[in-house]
Order: sequence, then C-alpha cells, then structure tokens
Amino acid sequence: EPWMVRLANPLAGINGDHGMNAVRYDVTDNVAVLTVEYPPVNALSAAVRTGLGEGLAHAKSDSAVIAVVIVGGGGTFIAGADITEFGTEKSKILPSLPDLQHSLETFPKPTVAAIHGTALGGGFELALTCHARVALASAKVGLPEVNLGLLPGAGGTQRLPRLVGPEVAIDLITTGRHISAARALELGIIDAVVEDLVMGAIDHARRMATHGATLTPVIERNEKVEGISPDLFTKARQSVAKKARGKIAPLVIIDCIEAACTLPPAEGLAFEIAKFRELYASDQRAALMHYFFAEREARRVPGLAAEPRPIGSAAVIGAGTMGGGIAMVFANAGIPVHLTDISEDAVSRGINLIRKNYDVSVGRGSMTQATADKALALIATATDYADFADADIVVEAAFERMDIKRDIFSRLDAVMKPDAILGTNTSSLDIDAIAAATNRPGNVVGVHFFSPANVMKLQENIRGKLTSEQTIATVMALGKTLGKNVVLAGNCDGFIGNRMLQYYTGEAEFLMEQGATPEQIDLVAEKFGMPMGPISMRDMSGLDVGVLVREARKATLPPGERFSPILERLVERGRHGMKTGKGFYRYEGREKHPDPETTDIIEQVARELGVQRRTFTDEEIEFRLFAPLVNEGAKEIEDGTAIRASDIDVAWVNGYGFPAHKGGPMYWGEQVGLHRIYEAALGAAQRNGPRWGPGKLLERLATEGKGWKDA
Ligand code: 3HC
Repeated sequence: EPWMVRLANPLAGINGDHGMNAVRYDVTDNVAVLTVEYPPVNALSAAVRTGLGEGLAHAKSDSAVIAVVIVGGGGTFIAGADITEFGTEKSKILPSLPDLQHSLETFPKPTVAAIHGTALGGGFELALTCHARVALASAKVGLPEVNLGLLPGAGGTQRLPRLVGPEVAIDLITTGRHISAARALELGIIDAVVEDLVMGAIDHARRMATHGATLTPVIERNEKVEGISPDLFTKARQSVAKKARGKIAPLVIIDCIEAACTLPPAEGLAFEIAKFRELYASDQRAALMHYFFAEREARRVPGLAAEPRPIGSAAVIGAGTMGGGIAMVFANAGIPVHLTDISEDAVSRGINLIRKNYDVSVGRGSMTQATADKALALIATATDYADFADADIVVEAAFERMDIKRDIFSRLDAVMKPDAILGTNTSSLDIDAIAAATNRPGNVVGVHFFSPANVMKLQENIRGKLTSEQTIATVMALGKTLGKNVVLAGNCDGFIGNRMLQYYTGEAEFLMEQGATPEQIDLVAEKFGMPMGPISMRDMSGLDVGVLVREARKATLPPGERFSPILERLVERGRHGMKTGKGFYRYEGREKHPDPETTDIIEQVARELGVQRRTFTDEEIEFRLFAPLVNEGAKEIEDGTAIRASDIDVAWVNGYGFPAHKGGPMYWGEQVGLHRIYEAALGAAQRNGPRWGPGKLLERLATEGKGWKDA
C-alpha cells in the first residue's frame, strides 16, 4: 500500500510566507518521492533545501525505502537557485546546495530526478547529482546562469562536460540555451523520456534498485573530459568573445570547463566555486539581475484590474517586412493569422518573404521543418477585410502616414466584430488621432514591434487617451503569449524608445561636427556593448529615411535649436546608406570603409557653422552619447510616458540592443551618478538647445542624491 509521511514542518520560521511544507514526502512501491512544492517555480530557497535535506535523511534511514525520486510540484521541476534570496541570510541556511548534492551523490540507494516543465540552473545541477534523470517529452533543461552574469556554481561546469564533452557544454552554458528532452536524451543528459512522470520515475528507480545498478556519480565519469586538445578552448574563446560584446561570464565559463578537463574533480569544483564568487561580486551580475526583475515588473500595470480577453485569431494589415514579421510572430505562437495588403501582388510578395524567412531559420537549425510548416499553415492571405471580420485582434503595419492609417482604421471599424481590438504598429504617430477615425476608441491601442519582428523581443504597447483597461490588459497578456517582452508607454512622439533615440543619434552627429570621426563614435558604442554604433545604424536604416523623419520633427523644434545638417548633405550627394553603397561609410558588400568624402562634408558643415573642431577621448564620447538617453528617459517618467525607470531599460535592451549587462540606460545612468547626468544635460542644453536640458524630476533626484526608486 502506498503510504505517506508528512514531515514535521522543518521550515518553521524559514518558510513563513508559504505556511506549508516546501517538500512533500510520500512513499510509493517502496520508493520515496520528494515533491518540491514552492510556487511559482520551485526555486531552491532555504525552505526547499531544508525540506530536501530532511526528506533525504528520512529516506536513507528508512529500511523500507529502496530508492528516491525528486520531482517538482505544479508546472515545473526546480528552476534554479532562489535568486530572491541571493545575498540574504536565508541563502546561508544549511543544507547548502552542494551539501544536498553531496548527499545525493553518496546516497546508498538509487536517486532519480523526474523532470517536467524546466530544470534550470541549480535545479538542473541538482538533477545532475542524481544517479539518473527521466523527463516528460515536453520538458526542457538548461543552465541559464550566464544571463544573470553568473556561471553554474553548483558543479554545472564540471558535470555537464562529463556527460556531453566540453564542446557541447561550452555551447550550452555560454548561451544559456534550454534544450528539449529529446535533444537531452540524444546527448545523454537524461536517461529516459517517460509518459507518466512520477510512475515512470518510480519504475526507473525501482529497476535500478532491484537490478543492483552501479551508482556512479556523474562527477566520477571521466571519459568525455580526458585527452582534450587545448586548441578546442582557444578556438572557443575566440568565437565566444566575438559574440559576448563585453560580457565577462561567457569567457569565465570556458575557463571552468577547461578546468573540468584538466583538474581532478574536487579541484575543478573548487575552481568553479571561486569563479562563481568572482562573478557574483561583479557589476555585470548586479546589472543583469536588475534586468531580470525589470523584465517581469514591466508586465505589471499599477491599478489595472481588468482581465485580458483571450486572443484566438489575428489579422495583420500590410505585408511588408514589418507586417510579415508580425504575422510570423502570431503564427509562431500558434495563433492563426490573416495577412493582407492593398493588392494580391503585395500579399503574395509578403507571403514569399515569410516563406524565405522560415527557410532561413530551418537552414540555420534554429527551427525544425515541421515547426516551420506548422507555423506557415497558420498564415492565411486575404485581400478583403471581411475575410477576417471575426478576428480577435488586428495589427495594422501599413505605411507610416496618418491619412492612410485613419482610412484603414475607419474601414476596419466598419467590418470587424464589435469587441475586436484594433492595434497599430506605428512607431511615432498619434494613437488618439488614429482612434478618432473609429467608433471604438476604447479598443484602439498601439502595439509596436521592432524590425525584424520575428526576432526582436520588444513589444511596446501604447495606451491612447480612451484605450480601455481591458484592451490594455489584453495586449499586455498577449505579449507573453507571443514570447515578447512588453512595456506599456504613453502616447507621445516616439513613445518610450524612439523618443529617446533621437538624442542618441543627434548627439552622435553633433560630435562629428565637433571633430569625432564616425569610426571612433561607432567603435566606442560597440565597445560599450551596442550591437552596432549609431552611425552604422543610420547607414543601415537609410539616411533618406532619417531625413524624412526629421523633416516632420523640424516643425516642432523650439527657437534656437537645430539638427546637424550632415545627414541632408550626404543625401544630397546620393549617399543614402548601405543600400546605395555609400552613406557615412563606403561599402563593399556589407564591409564598410571610412570615406574621405564624408570627412570633407563634415568639415565643410563645421566651417559653415563656425564649430570649433577638436579631438575626443573615448570616455568623453561614451558619456556624451548615452547621458542624453537617461535625461530624456527621466522626462518620460516625469510626464507619465513610462511607468517606471526599469521599463525604459526593458525597452532599450530589447528594442535597441542596449547591453543587458549594463542593466539598461536608466540603470547605467544611476550607476554613473544622476548628478553627472544632470550636469551633462545642463551642458547639452547650452550646446544643442533647450530640449536637451534636464527636467524637474532629474533635477530633484540629482540635487537630493536620490535614485529612480524615489521618482
Ligand atoms: N528564483 C526566484 N524566483 C524566480 C526564479 C528563481 N530562480 N525564476 C523565476 N522566478 C520568479 C519570477 O521572478 C516570477 O516572479 P513574479 O511572478 O513575482 O514576477 C515568477 O518566478 C515566474 O517567472 P516568469 O514570469 O519568468 O515565468 P515563466 O513561466 O515565463 O518562466 C522560468 C519560468 C523559465 C523558470 C523563468 O522564470 C526563468 O528562466 N527563470 C530564471 C531561471 C534561472 O536563471 N535559474 C538560474 C538561477 S541562478 C542559479 O541557479 C545558481 C546556481 O548555479 C548555483
């Protein structure tokens, strides 16, 4: 008979928040099943570690128990160390994770981890110290510590290479990728895929016990880490450094994996823990941890009580690069979507582009053919709005002109079912003016994706004056379904992200007038961690497009303020950017070269304007480029465009490639010192005009020595 022992609550005084045992102990068929019940993700809190420690001790001493299974309660296995307890007293409560792992590796009876949902970080490392691992087909495993600026500090860098060899381990741990149960089985990370998790694991454990399986801990299996050529690590360092854009953890991870291949296990483990501590103390870890919580906080809208409406179908207006990308985003999330444009030709061009994109993903190995086929089958084409009148949401991604958008919205309003949400992907136009073209302004909202929409992770939702609470709740929840990171912005020119961008690119142009070269500016930005410098970014998006956007903005400039005319001068000479082979740079294919003609144009502009030219240090350029972002961000908090500073960080990391390991522009600004940002803004106002000056909020925080939490 299965029987059950409820342990005396070992967590009294530790686990007050939950008021329950964090680990349940049952025995079925002589196998002790330890079920971790610590919502939301069964993180290895003090409560969980204590419960597991007691459960293991109990199972060890009970002679009726022949094996142990560890499983997660609720939707997932253990998602890692409890990062909310990092640096707190609770993190010091014993048993530590390595204590538990030692118990497991030396356990006299077979131990089996039963994995569903995700086994991540410390959770996966715990599983690696069990004698076997079984999983549901839908489960995933991974060591994502690198995303927090850390390395797996509970033996992950020492044990995983022993199962899969150093090359695969480097790939998995430096990227933090999650892999499927099928792939994990193929790689020998798990031992079996089962259909009934607990019963499958119990069977597996019983078989090990009754067959007297040898219980060799992973840490003692050395075949895969012996005789590895040092070349492998040299090459890995080169390739990882290229992608790391200044992140330190990936390279330290390689050092640890090399240690797994060169040192005895105990020394390798000691090396790993020392490196973990170094990374833990780093600024990058603090910034990435800030960023982790920022992403989750951004989903919350204070005071919003409405429930989201379910989105079961969608339509996208505009089959260009943007619209096609958005259609892919819906299809990839399993939501059927109609794609439409003004002509059949335009629609078929759009669908062909989508097909090509899926082919590229399959070719690169980032998607299987079956997944791509399934997604493609969810994309239908239409030339008449009536074909998708019952869709739950429409996202318009047509040409960026108000008259065109208003026409589309009034026609949509006429045919779409009454509660359909009408979203616009505009990157700068007034949401209220678009909503006014309909009789349902409460259902009109900005849903701004970033190009290419199927790759970039940001979804910037924009609330108009009349957007209803339920519409907002729906598009915020939709972001999660679509796998995007969401922020909610207020309605203004450029919303959160693009409103700030103009100061970054604008300052880059003023710097060129004053003597910095395009190459130096780009290099500084790239060394800072941006994927591409601001000048190259201009060349890529097209200087003619930049001139057009600015034409409209010029009308709103206050007296005494100007844009640098360099852009217009380049366009006059036919230099439209990468697409015409020359912009700021001269291009041979995608390879860029400095061009003396650009230098002449810049020098000419400076002479005409009487601008004194000089040289700049890299530090000066870095500060001049990024400080204005923080200043404008502060104004967005002040006028309600952004709910909180950390939302701006989320927007910039996901929409513009701002390095997450610097936490986002607002976090960076706080580290640099808000008083310095404030003084820089006073200087910029003198040089560039009144819009560059500080707002009241920044002034207050800077003079009172406060931070964003006091905003
Ligand atoms: N510790 C504490 N809380 C965690 C957590 C963790 N490791 N992981 C997630 N949470 C919390 C989140 O903050 C969130 O809280 P909230 O609801 O109050 O905002 C809640 O769990 C749900 O998380 P998500 O909103 O992210 O839920 P999803 O279902 O989308 O994703 C997940 C779940 C895949 C587990 C995702 O949360 C995730 O990737 N978490 C991080 C996992 C991780 O980094 N683990 C390694 C930790 S470091 C470590 O283990 C060190 C070791 O090597 C020594």
